[in-house]
Amino acid sequence: MHQPILLLILFLLLSTPGPAPAGEERTLKMPPASLAKWYKPVNKRQVWLHTMFRLRRQMQAVEEYVLLKDAAGVKKWGRRLAESYRRIPEMVPEWRDEVELGWADRLEAAALKGNFKGVARAWKKLENSCDACHDDFRPLAAALYRAPEYSKLKVMTEEAAGEITYPELMNRLTRLVNRIKIAIEDGRLPVAGQALKRLGKQLGYLGESCGQCHRDNIPRERILGGPTRRLLKKLGASIRNNELKEAGKLLGKAAVAVCARCHGVHRTLGDLKEFLTPLR
Ligand code: HEC
Ligand code: HEC
Ligand code: HEC
Repeated sequence: MHQPILLLILFLLLSTPGPAPAGEERTLKMPPASLAKWYKPVNKRQVWLHTMFRLRRQMQAVEEYVLLKDAAGVKKWGRRLAESYRRIPEMVPEWRDEVELGWADRLEAAALKGNFKGVARAWKKLENSCDACHDDFRPLAAALYRAPEYSKLKVMTEEAAGEITYPELMNRLTRLVNRIKIAIEDGRLPVAGQALKRLGKQLGYLGESCGQCHRDNIPRERILGGPTRRLLKKLGASIRNNELKEAGKLLGKAAVAVCARCHGVHRTLGDLKEFLTPLR
């Protein structure tokens, strides 16, 4: 092949943004088991997360005091930063190789001497180690330890079935939405109207489940509150009035406002967690 063509192909390959090519495998590492100790329910608090927030604050303080050439500030926060940083492998011994303890020592020593240049250099090394560990582990740690599980969650219904699981209820919802859509398309208005009534009822059951995780009523109101009720009412009216095009539009709107919006916050992380912990 001619060299210019090769170069062109190389350029196209290197300059194409977007996700990896289909079929290419990407790997993320599972965080070590001892990380679980620093999260609920094993711990009373989300200790790992609080340690991380502290580290970011201390990094910022050191950075700002170096810029101000404030030796007292650098000394105080440099000491604290080194101390918190050393906690990482104490908390999770498997991560000993992920941290730069030598640079934490050097940062502290330079901070005590008021050597701003030395502090800045060590600071950058620590920052690189933050980024490297986050690239490898952060998404899975969040999915594993901070995403709730939905698959075993129970929803109370007034029907003979009594309690049903989330996936069971979701299947009902999706069948009803599609039944409405099919019936609208085929002009079977009574079927569409009936399915819509049932959908409203099932969403009512679902709404009773939000309180298992959310303490206040705001999230429920946002997805299932007044605007959603009015939207479903309008949809019912358009079905009754045989305004089929309008009904199709309103159904699509409702699916976005109710189903997609709720899935956006809950489902992706929930799916990821389930994938990571298939045996539980
Ligand atoms: C050895 C691994 C490791 C190192 C090193 C590390 N972190 Fe983290 N960090 C994590 C993991 C894992 C999470 C994800 C925690 C979660 O989401 O529950 C995290 C999350 C965070 C978060 C929370 C992110 C957010 O916005 O929700 C902050 C802030 C943070 N780290 C700061 C730092 C800073 C600053 C450093 C370096 C001084 C650092 N971390 C070094 C593993 C590490
Ligand atoms: C709490 C907010 C919430 C609302 C509102 C919601 N869903 Fe879901 N949905 C979820 C969650 C969480 C899951 C993941 C359940 C699981 O698999 O553990 C899910 C999963 C699903 C699934 C996959 C079920 C399976 O077998 O894995 C379907 C289909 C679905 N939802 C349809 C709908 C439709 C249609 C609507 C709207 C009429 C809707 N959902 C409204 C939260 C919601
Ligand atoms: C198993 C636990 C669980 C259940 C059940 C649950 N959620 Fe959530 N929800 C979460 C978590 C975790 C978040 C992430 C943000 C947070 O912590 O508030 C969230 C976030 C949200 C948000 C975005 C943030 C906010 O507070 O406005 C909305 C809206 C929401 N949920 C609505 C609902 C609705 C509506 C239901 C019931 C139909 C529901 N959720 C049921 C766990 C749950």
